[in-house]
Amino acid sequence: MSRGQMKAKNDLACLILAAGKGTRMYSARAKMLHPILGVPLVSYPVERALELRASPIVAVLGHQRAEVEEALVARHGQGTVTVVEQTEQKGTGHAVRLGLAPLRGWEGTVLILYGDVPLLSRETLTALVKKSRKGGSLAILTAELSDPHGYGRVIRDGQGRAVGVVEEKDASDEQRRIREVNAGIYAAPAAFLRQATGRLSPRNAQGELYLTDIIAKAATGIGVASVSVSAEEMAGINDRQQLIAVEKILCRRIVGGWMKHATFRDPEAVLVEASVTIDADAEIGRNVVLRGRTKIGVGARIDDGCIVNDTEVGAGAVLLPYTVTSQSIVGPGAKVGPFAHLRPGTELGPDVHVGNYVETKKTRLGRGSKANHLTYLGDTIVGEGVNVGAGTITCNYNGYEKRQTIIEDGAFIGSDTQLVAPVRVGKRAVVAAGATITEDIRDGALAITRVPLKQVDGYADKVAQRYAEKAAAKR
Ligand code: UD1
Ligand code: CA
Repeated sequence: MSRGQMKAKNDLACLILAAGKGTRMYSARAKMLHPILGVPLVSYPVERALELRASPIVAVLGHQRAEVEEALVARHGQGTVTVVEQTEQKGTGHAVRLGLAPLRGWEGTVLILYGDVPLLSRETLTALVKKSRKGGSLAILTAELSDPHGYGRVIRDGQGRAVGVVEEKDASDEQRRIREVNAGIYAAPAAFLRQATGRLSPRNAQGELYLTDIIAKAATGIGVASVSVSAEEMAGINDRQQLIAVEKILCRRIVGGWMKHATFRDPEAVLVEASVTIDADAEIGRNVVLRGRTKIGVGARIDDGCIVNDTEVGAGAVLLPYTVTSQSIVGPGAKVGPFAHLRPGTELGPDVHVGNYVETKKTRLGRGSKANHLTYLGDTIVGEGVNVGAGTITCNYNGYEKRQTIIEDGAFIGSDTQLVAPVRVGKRAVVAAGATITEDIRDGALAITRVPLKQVDGYADKVAQRYAEKAAAKR
């Protein structure tokens, strides 16, 4: 293979600077671990790098390194991101110098991202990398801000060429009036970065090794190119307000995408994670939360206030208001809620009905079965066409282990029944209301555990008379 071919295949590497503490989060948890739409902040640049097929992807970690690394492995798999530790945060230039260590001897373009800048688009980063490659230069990302306070300002010469970046704290009054800021995102040849970051000096207002010093170096060498972005796209997360503002922006984008073929009754008042899928003609109510691997089928309706985690909702199924589900499957045409709770391992077949105040866990209900009111079904297999009466409880836990209940096709469970597991109710068996079932019920049998009913005639009058006499005696 020629050198050219090798380059074309794999000539983009990515460094993600993520060692900072995030002081302004006032959090026991590292800023990089705070989730936006269920995804840790630090994963956003990793996902961009993966989209661009950058390899290797190197993250420079410091604060809570072990926890951040664990989160990266959990989300992206072992070995996807190479971690370099920066024990002391001596500045962005120092971080890049350390991050280049795993790239020793590697030639190609390096994209530098921040762990706390999650909204950059693939298009913007592609344009940045292209610019750097085209001129063999340093490409920087800049934005015009109405309030540039706190950012490094881009200094341009008479011909409009970027010649340097000056940090707020080092800037003159005149420089502070510049509104074009450095987003802190760069693409550059690896060789240039190695050489330029090898000779940085901490002689500045913050006593840090500024990565921004490489811009002046490039201006007199390989050249500087710039790509501009909107203020929104370059937004970094420094505090919780910014975190939520970004979450809202991302959520709006996601919902906007699905709104082409699904109806959102109040698109501003829902939370939909990026991993969710929503099929055509679905209808999503107000204050609905859809998370994780949730899939909403064709024409399904998720009413107001439902919280749906990792749940597949089949075509035409309905979750009535305030239903909460996790790791469950709701079959096509099924109807759930209001106020139902489907816990992990619930599988509802087609046209099943699960009504209000019903909780299920590790439970399967077959086609057309119903549990409509006030019921707990745990570790239970329910066949097809079963009716589970109001107030039925599976007693699945004996204080030591969980045990199974099986209710076969066509069985009828009367109201207020306790099924003490392990137990089986046979096909088309009938359990009379108020039963406590402690042994298997045969197919087609009636199970009744009631104390025989007794009636005492004239009882009410007798009691009334007794109390009337007592009252008369007192007077
Ligand atoms: C930096 C730029 C500034 C730019 C701004 C954009 C420098 C000197 N300044 O500002 O021109 O306008 O970004 O947001 O580069 N980090 C490390 N190790 C360190 C220091 C920082 O990993 O030693 C990481 C942080 O976790 C963060 C990123 O680098 O993800 C940027 O650090 P931050 O302190 O926010 O940048 P500034 O110096 O404020
Ligand atoms: Ca910052």
